[in-house]
Amino acid sequence: MRISEKPLAARLKELGVELHAGVSLSEKTSLGIGGTTDELVLRRFETIPEVMRLLADEKIPHRFLGGGTNVLIDDGELPWVVLHLPTSQPGMRVEGNAAYVDAAADLGGMVTFCAKRDLGGMEGLIGVPGSVGGALRMNAGAYGTQIGSYVREVELYRAATGEIETVRGNDIRFDYRHTSFAPDDVMLRVKLELPSKPFKEILAGIKVCNEKRRASQPLNQKSAGCIFKNPPGGSAGRMIDELGLKGHRAGDAMVSDRHANFFINAGKASCADMLRLIDDVRERVRTRFGMELENEVILWKN
Ligand code: EPU
Repeated sequence: MRISEKPLAARLKELGVELHAGVSLSEKTSLGIGGTTDELVLRRFETIPEVMRLLADEKIPHRFLGGGTNVLIDDGELPWVVLHLPTSQPGMRVEGNAAYVDAAADLGGMVTFCAKRDLGGMEGLIGVPGSVGGALRMNAGAYGTQIGSYVREVELYRAATGEIETVRGNDIRFDYRHTSFAPDDVMLRVKLELPSKPFKEILAGIKVCNEKRRASQPLNQKSAGCIFKNPPGGSAGRMIDELGLKGHRAGDAMVSDRHANFFINAGKASCADMLRLIDDVRERVRTRFGMELENEVILWKN
């Protein structure tokens, strides 16, 4: 979707929005997959309601892209513009046991920032790639920690009302890789309440998680983490492994030979390749184990 030639572009500029024309989203995602569109960078939260009104008036479809680490984006020219909150110098501060963090902040960066101030609890999240906003939306978790347990307040743009609102943690449901946020809510800031813990102890916990992750996950390859959610009581990775599918491919999309629930872009994989591989593996798991695997990765495709 191209809007740089439209009159709307001038108005967006007045609002301080940066317009980047023809951005390849393959450069913005950890999978290295994604087509092309115009990107709007919103440096000031306060302008979001006005920007959204302008886009709605002009009937311009849009999507918010966070860290790009858990998303599979379609190929070719995309039918929506992408909105992005900048990640340079996002705000983080600590007051007692509370941490106030911008959604654009890097998740691992937040964990270490808090650790250095003797606030722990989130050690398991250290190697989870992505932004704090994405982690909130998905209730990211690893090694027994889920971010939702620590959330006390979320400031968000609520598309349903067109306003920036503050939601209390108790009013949000955090389930396994799922939350009660509306799909078009945009995370802006979070207040977390974290247990006090000496930095050295937190660091030891972080080291253990890092080692476990390094030993079992393909960290240096292009992936979106786990492709499927684990079914209740089961393990998607173990089932795919038992089917002997490590290294199995569709074009350049490949089941990791290190962890079978990680699908890798082993070259120039397209979204179509990845979807073929996902469907193929899902079908084989259904046939052999009678279980329907649900995507964990978010699919952006019209
Ligand atoms: N397993 C295999 N073969 C494989 C992969 C796993 O046999 O190729 C076995 C393991 O040996 C283990 C079991 O399956 O007995 C579970 O594996 P693992 O401990 O790696 O955890 P997982 O259930 O596959 C989950 C999360 C990960 C998270 C880890 C660590 C999901 C879908 N995945 O993986 O999160 O990092 O636990 O806590 O919930 C993600 O969300 O993207 C993600 C990677």
